[in-house]
Amino acid sequence: MSSIDYNEKIPNNVNLAEDRGLRRALEHWQPNYLGWWSEMGPEGSRDFDVYLRTAISVDPKGWAQFDYVRMPDYRWGIFLNPGQEDRRIHFGDHKGEPAWQEVPGEYRANLRRIIVTQGDTEPASVEQQRHLGLTCPSLYDLRNLFQVNVEEGRHLWAMVYLLHKYFGRDGREEGEALLERRSGEEDNPRILQAFNERTPDWLAFFMFTYFTDRDGKFQLCALAESAFDPLARTTRFMLTEEAHHMFVGESGVSRVIQRTCQVMRELGTDDPERVRSAGAIDLPTIQRYINFHFSVTIDLFGADESSNAATFYSTGLKGRFGEGKRNDDHVLKDDSYRVLVERDGNLSEKEVPMLNALNEVLRDDFIADSVGGVNRWNKVIEKAGFDYRLIVPHKAFNRKIGSLAGARVSPDGHVISGDEWDRRMAGWLPSPGDREFVASLMGRVVAPGKFAGWIAPPAMGVNRLPVDFEYVRFN
Ligand SMILES: [Fe+2]
Ligand SMILES: [Fe+2]
Repeated sequence: MSSIDYNEKIPNNVNLAEDRGLRRALEHWQPNYLGWWSEMGPEGSRDFDVYLRTAISVDPKGWAQFDYVRMPDYRWGIFLNPGQEDRRIHFGDHKGEPAWQEVPGEYRANLRRIIVTQGDTEPASVEQQRHLGLTCPSLYDLRNLFQVNVEEGRHLWAMVYLLHKYFGRDGREEGEALLERRSGEEDNPRILQAFNERTPDWLAFFMFTYFTDRDGKFQLCALAESAFDPLARTTRFMLTEEAHHMFVGESGVSRVIQRTCQVMRELGTDDPERVRSAGAIDLPTIQRYINFHFSVTIDLFGADESSNAATFYSTGLKGRFGEGKRNDDHVLKDDSYRVLVERDGNLSEKEVPMLNALNEVLRDDFIADSVGGVNRWNKVIEKAGFDYRLIVPHKAFNRKIGSLAGARVSPDGHVISGDEWDRRMAGWLPSPGDREFVASLMGRVVAPGKFAGWIAPPAMGVNRLPVDFEYVRFN
């Protein structure tokens, strides 16, 4: 069950051959997916041979095979983690009952909405990143971009499989709509706002994969607890791929910082203008990118008080991050949680029923996790002998969703006046000038082993290969 059948038109480990109706439906969707990929997937990548990993099993040891794949012949397919015998629901009102193998009628609409919302983010990020290959800083980075893109494509497959198999005709319609929405398009945008923002340059890409793919991790972890077993199993496998996306982000930003520090040492100054003149990205600009991507991403967790969040949990559709490791009753009816509110120019905490605060709980887990990488970035600066430190901004900064939406709070957590906000905002988020400067650095470097001047090479290549390996061959 854990090995994947690659002889099938759609590689899978779900016995698709035996479910002829489902197979037919997915084989009908497949050419539409490929049409979407050729229209909205990585620009100008056709016929490149890319050194990619492909899933060959869902066994945690050795699920991946590395080899050249000609774009767009990547074998997208359907892979679920093996079922756990006698799996029980372990939170919410159905705690202790057997996990569901079919969708309970009363939860159908909510489950479909959860799956569609998750599914929509996957092609959205591919669309957001589609032009980045044209300005890659190296073959190594180009290969990583394509790896992330094909896996996001596979995550779409994972959600479409669930829609087709368990939601009948509505599911098939949703599967089509997932190929029709477009990131940033006014008439038919992607569902969540962070997935309609542009990813204009590689610094934005690394920030996106660090912060926004990490949102993906937390959402998938919460869904991996679901009482609906097929959703739990498919999201578990998606998580193994998500880890790599966050690695691309964390190591990418780290290499940018490493290069910046190297330039600062050579110049003997951290003056942003001089750093820029030397072709590196100054640390304050990196901080502004962090401020933007962090604040946009934490909005993805939704309103801090949400009756939907309570319903999703109590009905068993979506658990908490690390649900199984928490020492409480996993029902949460008698518990409360403190959420942050702004009142009369002050931030204060308000106690609300835990169930209603579960978006905030997930957001706080995300924030705690995000800080780790930022601390590691600071180590790079510290090691180079500079005092500058990057921070994750306060969670009330630049919020558009929830009770903090529109609060005027500085990145260090002070409530400020409207005047001050207007005056200082440009210094906290990437300005058009910052964007223009970063864009001006984006050239295309494709000679094996060569790197653009604004980023350091990685310490190690992919799959233990040398850094100067020919990760992409152009045809
Ligand atoms: Fe994904
Ligand atoms: Fe991802």
